[in-house]
Amino acid sequence: MSAEKPTILVTGGAGYIGSHAVLALEAAGYPVIILDSLEYGHKELVEQSLKAKLIEGKTTDRALLDHIFQTHNIGAVMHFAAYIAVGESVQEPAKYYYNNVVGTLTLLEAMLAADIKQFVFSSTCAIYGPPKTVPIPEDHPKNPISPYASSKLMVEEMLKDFTKSYGLNAVVFRYFNAAGADPQGRLGEDHQPETHLIPLVLQAALGRRENIAMFGTDYDTPDGTCIRDYIHVADLASAHVLGVEYLNKGGETAFINLGNGNGFSVREVIETARQVTGEAISAVERDRRPGDPPRLIGSSEQARRILGWQPQYADLESIIAHAWQWHLHRHGRAS
Ligand SMILES: NC(=O)c1ccc[n+]([C@@H]2O[C@H](COP(=O)([O-])OP(=O)(O)OC[C@H]3O[C@@H](n4cnc5c(N)ncnc54)[C@H](O)[C@@H]3O)[C@@H](O)[C@H]2O)c1
Repeated sequence: MSAEKPTILVTGGAGYIGSHAVLALEAAGYPVIILDSLEYGHKELVEQSLKAKLIEGKTTDRALLDHIFQTHNIGAVMHFAAYIAVGESVQEPAKYYYNNVVGTLTLLEAMLAADIKQFVFSSTCAIYGPPKTVPIPEDHPKNPISPYASSKLMVEEMLKDFTKSYGLNAVVFRYFNAAGADPQGRLGEDHQPETHLIPLVLQAALGRRENIAMFGTDYDTPDGTCIRDYIHVADLASAHVLGVEYLNKGGETAFINLGNGNGFSVREVIETARQVTGEAISAVERDRRPGDPPRLIGSSEQARRILGWQPQYADLESIIAHAWQWHLHRHGRAS
């Protein structure tokens, strides 16, 4: 008989990556409670596709956190809740530091008060800044160039100190570009506003935007456009389940990249989307955007070595095909 699995609190579990992680946790037999402010999350998707109980509220609300920890037997916390728009973080840094840093500190303090010491955190490859080596290893220098990325690095520093002083154990995942959707079509990406390339390309395929802009076509890359590491959201989700298992077995704090290890250029993404969707998809060439490095690819050796993680959907066709199935179902073609 297998041992009973601990209940996991998932903050931001009504959002894109968090909801896929809940799906994977539930498939692995973990009971889940979601805390989400629903500023960006989708309540109806939680209700339709997940078993988890949804609590509407914020990580900055200490009284609510204390109540959750007092009334549920939580074994570990998976923390996705954050504001994620890099451009907005430049305009409104205080909003980002408050939500992403103070919110996380409040959550950690409430956890420690309840003697919960297992934590999985969503960090980002943006903490590395412009890469000095590619693929980027975890010990690459950290040089965040936006308040959003700085907010994530500040939490990483906090987690190092909390590990030393309070015995917290954390798995910190630094994601590259999350993409794709649940292969069974139950969940997918629906950010408002949308800034990610693959959903924008698919909006063009659906006739919901006129064209897709390629920012910079004269980079030192094989086809002149930027190369990024797209990781399937189901592969991110499976790594999170392994992260919880690792902590459950007594694993110590670890900082782990999650990328696909393969880079794909903007032109390749658009061309693959044309093949997958059968739509023409008009692309227009635009100037480079400041701060866009030509190549961002992660080394995911540590994830394989420490967690035994194996991405299942590393090819661009699967990533785009699953995203397309979701977008067609969720939004449909423009009439
Ligand atoms: N999408 C990516 O490619 C990517 C890359 C690197 C890192 N990340 C990180 O992954 C995490 C999830 O990203 P996502 O793309 O799923 O974003 P998302 O916006 O879809 O999900 C975030 C969720 O958190 C909720 N939320 C925000 N602040 C909250 C708070 N203080 N309390 C409670 N709920 C709150 C939002 O309502 C939303 O449902 C974020 O921490 C993000 O920084 C994402």
